[in-house]
Amino acid sequence: MYDFSSDPNQPKAELYSDLLSAAKALTEGEPDTIANMANIAALMYQIVPNLNWAGFYRMVQDELVLGPFCGKPACIRIPVGRGVCGAAVGTGQSQLVPDVHAFPGHIACDAESRAELVVPIMRDGKVIAVIDLDSPLPNRFDQEDQKGIEALAEILSARV
Ligand code: SME
Repeated sequence: MYDFSSDPNQPKAELYSDLLSAAKALTEGEPDTIANMANIAALMYQIVPNLNWAGFYRMVQDELVLGPFCGKPACIRIPVGRGVCGAAVGTGQSQLVPDVHAFPGHIACDAESRAELVVPIMRDGKVIAVIDLDSPLPNRFDQEDQKGIEALAEILSARV
C-alpha cells in the first residue's frame, strides 16, 4: 500500500526526489501505458501541493488526446500549436506559464486554473505525450518544478 501526502512546506528538492523515487517504484516492470499514466497522475496530484489538475495528453496521430488525469473533466482533443499543451508539442519545449490569462490561446478547462506547467515526454526524438499540471495560484511553478517534472518525463519516456 502506498500512502502519499503533500506538504506545502517541504523543500522542492526533497519533494521531487520523493516523487521520482515513487514514480520509478510504481512503474517498475509494468508495461501498460494507461496503468502507468493513471498511477503517475494520482501520484502528482497527491504529492505536488496546490494543484487543481494533473495528468497526461497523448499524441494520437497528429493531435493531443486526453489521457489519465486527476481533476475536473477536461477538453479531449488539442491540435498541435494550440494552447499551452499544443505549444509544448509544437516547440518540443516545456511551457512554464505564470499566468494563463496572459498566454495567447490558453484553453480554459477549469476556470480556477491560473498557472500551468506542461512538459513534453520524448521518445526517439518525438513528443509522445505531455505532462500537464494546473494550479489555482498564479506564479505557482518555477524552474525547480520544471526541472523536477522534466526528470519525471525522462523516466516515463520508456514506461508509457
Ligand atoms: N490549459 C491547457 C488545456 C488542458 S487543461 O489545462 C487540463 C492548454 O491550454 O493547453
